[in-house]
Amino acid sequence: MRHVLRAALLSFTCFAATAGFAADAALIEKGRKLFADAKLSSTGAACVNCHPNNGHTDNKTYVGLNAVKDGTPDGRSTPTLWGAGRRSVYAWAGTAPALEGNIRAIIVNRMKGAEPTPETLAALAAYVRSLAPPKTGNIDDDGVPAKKAPAAVKRGFALFTGKGGCGACHVPGSFDKAEPEDVGTGAKFKVPALWAVSQTAPYFHDGRTESLEDAAKAMWAVSTKKAGTASDPTDKEIADLLAYLNSL
Ligand code: HEC
Ligand code: HEC
Repeated sequence: MRHVLRAALLSFTCFAATAGFAADAALIEKGRKLFADAKLSSTGAACVNCHPNNGHTDNKTYVGLNAVKDGTPDGRSTPTLWGAGRRSVYAWAGTAPALEGNIRAIIVNRMKGAEPTPETLAALAAYVRSLAPPKTGNIDDDGVPAKKAPAAVKRGFALFTGKGGCGACHVPGSFDKAEPEDVGTGAKFKVPALWAVSQTAPYFHDGRTESLEDAAKAMWAVSTKKAGTASDPTDKEIADLLAYLNSL
């Protein structure tokens, strides 16, 4: 048995090397180290301070490097980087089309660090792209509930793409879109991706909402008003929508 496993492992290693996986793995590993390297900043801050737990979020809101009260108007809540490789656009302002450019801006502007080399940016971007959101098993990669998902999750998906109108902006699959939107704050912000959204509170660019239920209710009001079908969701509709969101 051990023999067979060893042989399988050996042939996988050969395959990985020929397919270029080894080179990718080395770049990702370099990025992982840089992610924890306080020397990228002039203030002792490392990426991992705000994106702990393999690039997740520390669930805080910042102005520069200072944590502020959630909901502070110029505060920005830390997004999870799980699944960031699939996003259509970066930064809450929705202005950074590429991951490398966004990371450069964070190092230079937020962390007050020296101009990073292209190699540093490539390694950090490769690491960030390697961070997949954990799977709940209820949702396929295209955002559609798996066959075995509970009925409430399936009803929630029907509301998400139907009556709730969420899918017009949070397009299933990436759950975002490239164009920023004004959802009633008087300014346009990035449509955030929703993978692992149950673990990313506080919600919205300024972290103004603590619970996913309140965020979903606020979005329902905006969404149905925009669609000209303004309505309050029933308790059952909100429960179903949350069953879906909690499965992402
Ligand atoms: C002081 C806390 C802090 C540090 C340190 C930090 N980040 Fe962030 N990160 C944030 C916040 C807050 C945002 C949202 C900022 C915005 O969009 O205006 C963010 C956004 C991002 C985004 C954009 C995600 C998206 O979907 O828009 C990426 C990528 C990112 N950070 C990677 C990094 C990397 C790589 C480092 C280290 C070089 C780093 N961060 C250091 C707090 C931090
Ligand atoms: C018109 C486009 C649009 C529609 C429709 C829409 N959203 Fe959003 N959604 C956004 C934008 C833009 C934000 C960020 C707003 C901000 O940060 O102030 C957002 C933020 C969110 C957040 C917070 C995520 C986070 O990481 O902070 C959740 C949850 C959410 N939406 C769920 C929904 C649900 C559920 C629906 C349907 C009931 C919906 N959205 C409909 C554009 C939309």
